[in-house]
Amino acid sequence: MLSIALPKGRIAKETLDIFEEIFDKKFVFEDRKLILETDGFRFLLVRNQDVPSYVLHQAADIGVVGLDVLEEKDEDLVRLLDLNIGKCKVCVGIMDNKEIDYSLPEIKIATKMSNIAQKYFSKKAMGVKIIKLYGSIELAPLVGLSDAIVDIVETGATMKQNGLKAVETIMESSAYLISNKNSFIEKKDEIISLYEKIQKVL
Ligand code: PRP
Repeated sequence: MLSIALPKGRIAKETLDIFEEIFDKKFVFEDRKLILETDGFRFLLVRNQDVPSYVLHQAADIGVVGLDVLEEKDEDLVRLLDLNIGKCKVCVGIMDNKEIDYSLPEIKIATKMSNIAQKYFSKKAMGVKIIKLYGSIELAPLVGLSDAIVDIVETGATMKQNGLKAVETIMESSAYLISNKNSFIEKKDEIISLYEKIQKVL
């Protein structure tokens, strides 16, 4: 039995679509259930940011999660395969009529991704004050909570509709198949077999 942590939402749906294509059968979670057990797989439905924890602590053997989350958490996990789904960018965003003022001793950045933001600005030798938020990041500069944001851009619609522009791209992201080291050793054959099947349909 392989246990697989999936991030709730579109990536879980697209991953299950891949399984449906490989095994030629339906993989669907019942209503509000968070576990789906079938055909030697146990799928777990978890929050995006929680996937690395489930996999790291071996509550799941493998998982699917965005590279952005992997970089933010920076855990000791095996990155098996880029699934090429859930593509997005992590960008610095600022109000349309403003530019980043590099002369400031410190700029205020609102973000869910504190580590990525901190590292990025440290490399530029810029002082930053990180304001950690959990969502609706685009609101922060509009109401004076921050000078700029670091956030996910997918279509760009959220920034645009809130009068922001992406001025710098920190990284490109897509969803990866990951594993923890123990499962990768103990269940190597099962994992490699699945890996090969997924690679074939991608
Ligand atoms: C993400 C991200 C942006 C939006 C970007 O938010 O934080 O707000 O999607 O997508 P777009 O470029 O296609 O507009 P999410 O939907 O995860 O909600 P959250 O703000 O509650 O985290």
